[in-house]
Amino acid sequence: MPPPSTILVSGASRGLGLAIVNDLLDTGHTVIALSRQRTVAIEALAKKHLDQIRWVEFDLSSPDAITSEWFQQFVSQDQPIHGFVSNAAVAYDDLVTNLQLDSLEHQMKINVFSPMILTKMMIRQLLLHQIGGSIIHISSISTQQGYKGLAMYAATKGAIEAFSKSTAKEWGPRKIRSNCVVPGFMETEMSSGLSQEAKERINNRTSLKEPTSITSVASTVKFLLSNDSRSITGQNIIVDSGTI
Ligand SMILES: NC(=O)c1ccc[n+]([C@@H]2O[C@H](COP(=O)([O-])OP(=O)(O)OC[C@H]3O[C@@H](n4cnc5c(N)ncnc54)[C@H](OP(=O)(O)O)[C@@H]3O)[C@@H](O)[C@H]2O)c1
Repeated sequence: MPPPSTILVSGASRGLGLAIVNDLLDTGHTVIALSRQRTVAIEALAKKHLDQIRWVEFDLSSPDAITSEWFQQFVSQDQPIHGFVSNAAVAYDDLVTNLQLDSLEHQMKINVFSPMILTKMMIRQLLLHQIGGSIIHISSISTQQGYKGLAMYAATKGAIEAFSKSTAKEWGPRKIRSNCVVPGFMETEMSSGLSQEAKERINNRTSLKEPTSITSVASTVKFLLSNDSRSITGQNIIVDSGTI
């Protein structure tokens, strides 16, 4: 993927997604940023980078609208998209014995079904333009380590890791790569409900005794989008302060 190129980033309004968008814009990429909210931070980036960023409002809890609406309305067939960062997700945390089907379905739509359909549409775009590309799914260290209360969330991330690996095999011959970045605990809105004690317990389980740096994860994503990572596909890259 020679820069500057166009990258689609989901969950761009805050947290890790915002950091990824920021990093890509600074590197000269054009970004199609997707989320439900146009936050103050997105507004500031739009002012700073003007023509380089296009924010599109979309609710990923309606995966069926991706094909019928989103790609029809917002992505021109003439404009190639070289990379996709599937970052948007929600965390449904509860004990397995409290599992509610509607909450599980909601989470599956955002964390699994929408990323899969967006990947399908991305690959079709890449094939149409006869270019290779890079797809990156944001997973979670919860796929590697068990965490009480995260069984339902971890299962969605495990599904995406498996999806990514087979996507890499299926489309590698067309120079389309697929990888997962697997972050450890990061200080974002998603993790803001954890008590200080719980955060300390998680940090103490890491080699570095600190939360995972959002900028370190964003830099890894940027590397996987770049041509420097052209031989890497079908992998799960763990960025987690060394969970032990
Ligand atoms: N925080 C952690 O400790 C941690 C650890 C490992 C992995 N991760 C993963 O890292 C990624 C980023 O998480 P984060 O911590 O940055 O989370 P966050 O601060 O909660 O941000 C989540 C993003 O997803 C978007 N989103 C949520 N529901 C959506 C929907 N229905 N439609 C469209 N967009 C939606 C949100 O935008 P809107 O609300 O504006 O729609 C927001 O931009 C996720 O994949 C998460 O699973 C996080």
